[in-house]
Amino acid sequence: MTNQVVLVLDFGGQYKESIARRIRAMKVYSIIKPCTISIEEIKKINPIGIVLTGGEDSINDDYSPVCDKELFELGIPVLGICYGMQVMAKVLGGEVRAEEKEYGKLDCKVDTTSVLFNNIPESTKVMMNHIDRLKVLPKGFRPIASTEGTEFAGMENASKKLYGLQFRPEVDLTVEGKKIFKNFIYTVCGAKGDYNTRKFLEETKQAIREQVGNEKVVLGLSGGVDSSVCAALLEQAIPNQVVCIFVDHGCMRKNEGNEIEAAFKDKNLTFIRVDAEQRFLDKLKGVTDPEQKRKIIGKEFIEVFREEAKKFDDAKFLAQGTIYPDIVESGWVGKKAVVKSHHNVGGLPKDIGFVGIVEPLKSLFKDEVRKIGKLLGLPKALVTRQPFPGPGLAVRTLGEVNKQKLDLVREADAIFREELEKTNVKADQYFAILTSVQSVGVRNEARTYDYTIALRAVKTNDFMTCEYVPLPHSLLNKVSMRITSEVEGVNRVVYDITGKPPATIEWE
Ligand code: XMP
Repeated sequence: MTNQVVLVLDFGGQYKESIARRIRAMKVYSIIKPCTISIEEIKKINPIGIVLTGGEDSINDDYSPVCDKELFELGIPVLGICYGMQVMAKVLGGEVRAEEKEYGKLDCKVDTTSVLFNNIPESTKVMMNHIDRLKVLPKGFRPIASTEGTEFAGMENASKKLYGLQFRPEVDLTVEGKKIFKNFIYTVCGAKGDYNTRKFLEETKQAIREQVGNEKVVLGLSGGVDSSVCAALLEQAIPNQVVCIFVDHGCMRKNEGNEIEAAFKDKNLTFIRVDAEQRFLDKLKGVTDPEQKRKIIGKEFIEVFREEAKKFDDAKFLAQGTIYPDIVESGWVGKKAVVKSHHNVGGLPKDIGFVGIVEPLKSLFKDEVRKIGKLLGLPKALVTRQPFPGPGLAVRTLGEVNKQKLDLVREADAIFREELEKTNVKADQYFAILTSVQSVGVRNEARTYDYTIALRAVKTNDFMTCEYVPLPHSLLNKVSMRITSEVEGVNRVVYDITGKPPATIEWE
């Protein structure tokens, strides 16, 4: 892409993506690289600024990740956040020591003569979470922020454009976090704000045309947001050259398969829907272990896709809806470098004779993918779809899966979603689970021994943690009444009031 770039260097932990997304939301392109990146590579990227992320280590441990001193001598502005500030301080001759933990949304005094705190009140709330403290500033630096427990909560060497913050400007709990980032990115780094999804779309379409020429491209369509947006993008970039293979494993939500078919059937692409429900059910027979169910579904999906794709042996390219979080490597965690596996690839077959892979969304975050989907004119329901696990309702049916159970949970889930969507309750993910617990009930004056449906609705920012949504009793009551009267085989409905941790969002 032809944009200015801010480089986010990952020192471990879960910080990198929120920093990179916050920068992109300011219309500046950002990329994430492990902190082990070489100076040569940094020069090649030619960023207008560098952000060093927080991390989970103590800078004084032997194995703690650091960066090359040369990084601070490139003339590129650097902002070190939390652990990132401590790295900057230590590498440049400062001193960091462990003290009592400082945690929470705290009062912070900032020096408004620092460009970082332009237009920010002298007293503001910031999010802190640290044990190590900067005790001696490196030469050439001055303090620019403090809290009751931390003398040096911020530092700067303005002439070298080097800045450090002990608190976390990338989280909403830091009230002025966005302004602080803006001051760094625009005033210190000289950003022009030259990145936006519309421009991305045009440049990407051109890049796809250049990559594939007149050749045919095969795409595995799962019906999720990423592969659907990928299909729509390819259709516009290279009309009539795309074959979409939609493997319907029979574990989709109510009407989902038809909605996907309706969205793509009349487009300028070849749409193949493979009804493989029975095949998947046969493989899942007698299997109760969740991990095994996942593996079986993943493997069978590839098998079905492979068989269909073989029918298009003139296709030279395989397209995938890989997105940025799928490929971002976790740079360094504690003693070991951890590389997250490229899970979205899902092991799609590369041995069918494709000469290349097309991954047009691989630099985008989920929210950007949804924006692109909207720009491409995909139906809102498809673009704003909540996350749905690849194995689908098979992991929302506890224990052994069969057609009857899948139909029960599918109906109950549709009722729950329909009723919740009629209210103004906000939830990031909500669905029904068939617990496979059977209990005694009574219907039409006769004893029943039927299944229990559990309902789950959660609020979350990143799906790594979540809180349950306290749904109004009127809604729960309505859903319970409808499910027990409309879904034969269910005589009890319960609501899951657990957060993550200790639970996970899915039950399997
Ligand atoms: P958990 O259950 O781990 O889920 O709290 C976190 C988020 O990931 C989704 N999820 C999956 N997505 N394949 C996927 O593509 C899977 O196997 C899978 N399992 C869980 C889940 O819906 C939630 O949004």
